[in-house]
Amino acid sequence: MHYLHVFALSLSASLFAEASLPLVINTWPFQDATAAAWSALQRGESVLDAVETGCATCEREQCDGSVGYGGSPDETGETTLDAMIMNGDSMEVGAVADLRRVKNAISVARAVMEHTTHTLLVGEMASVFAQNMGFKAEDLTTNTSKSIFAKWLGQNCQPNFRKNVSPDPRTSCGPYKPSVEVKRMDEQNHTRLDVHSHDTIGMVVIGRNRSVAAGTSTNGARHKVPGYKPILTVRVGDSPIAGAGSYADSTVGGAAATGDGDVMMRFLPSFLAVELMRRGIDPASACKAALTRIKTYYPGFFGAVICANIQGEYGAACNRVPGFSQFSYMVSTPLTNNPLLKKVDCF
Ligand code: GLY
Repeated sequence: MHYLHVFALSLSASLFAEASLPLVINTWPFQDATAAAWSALQRGESVLDAVETGCATCEREQCDGSVGYGGSPDETGETTLDAMIMNGDSMEVGAVADLRRVKNAISVARAVMEHTTHTLLVGEMASVFAQNMGFKAEDLTTNTSKSIFAKWLGQNCQPNFRKNVSPDPRTSCGPYKPSVEVKRMDEQNHTRLDVHSHDTIGMVVIGRNRSVAAGTSTNGARHKVPGYKPILTVRVGDSPIAGAGSYADSTVGGAAATGDGDVMMRFLPSFLAVELMRRGIDPASACKAALTRIKTYYPGFFGAVICANIQGEYGAACNRVPGFSQFSYMVSTPLTNNPLLKKVDCF
């Protein structure tokens, strides 16, 4: 009887997987990205191709101003890009951070994975690598990024990411010097940027054969801190970091994160969610548990995670903060017909 029961359960799970795979899931209502990834799968392309095509669509469309060129200028007004892609069959990862002058960050990340034995290339090294691989060099600045930057300068560089410096970063622009006294600041009370200053497209694709790939692409945090000498560098967030931005393991599933990368990357939420799913926890609960870990230390952080397993189940979770009570994400499976907008209430 017991064996029959187990057999019936595993049969129904595999029938569900049969019916609900392949699957595309991505953060935010970036429908064209979902549709592009789905079309790639319908053409018989791989899950990696689908992730690349989906994220590249957002880069071209400058989704929400937070993906691709012309968004999130740093303190000098420049836009820089972060992206990663992960192959859940081989556990290979390719990533770029602080990519300059090249628009198609997700494809450069894939080139890192396929044409080097490295995992992450950063800054000038990433940009020169991209150009050597045939990617076009162009200016990532647009009138929009110029005007975001001008407005920020006009309001005394508020908000910004500085602390324990002088002059007071809450009222003044730099240049800043370290304060003599370093105070432990409650980051919750520090002026935070609005929720759209930190968005990322994060995508997980699971094929009919249960291969999993995941990826992210973002222009990072608006007004992030740069370094000046000897060469320009800039703050890098969670998106290009495996386990933080996204994670894929074809024996389990995948996860991807969006939100305040400075806080979230301290907890590797995508990795944690996949590990929880490995233990049999359903995707929505795994996403929630990964965020609960962060919430213990930073109750006011802004962030969300999407999760999917190789049984074709999926879910998402988000941390409730003022102005962010619901998180939208997209899903496409044989059961949804078209990219379907899903919403989850934040907890
Ligand atoms: N999650 C995007 C970033 O903080 O860079």
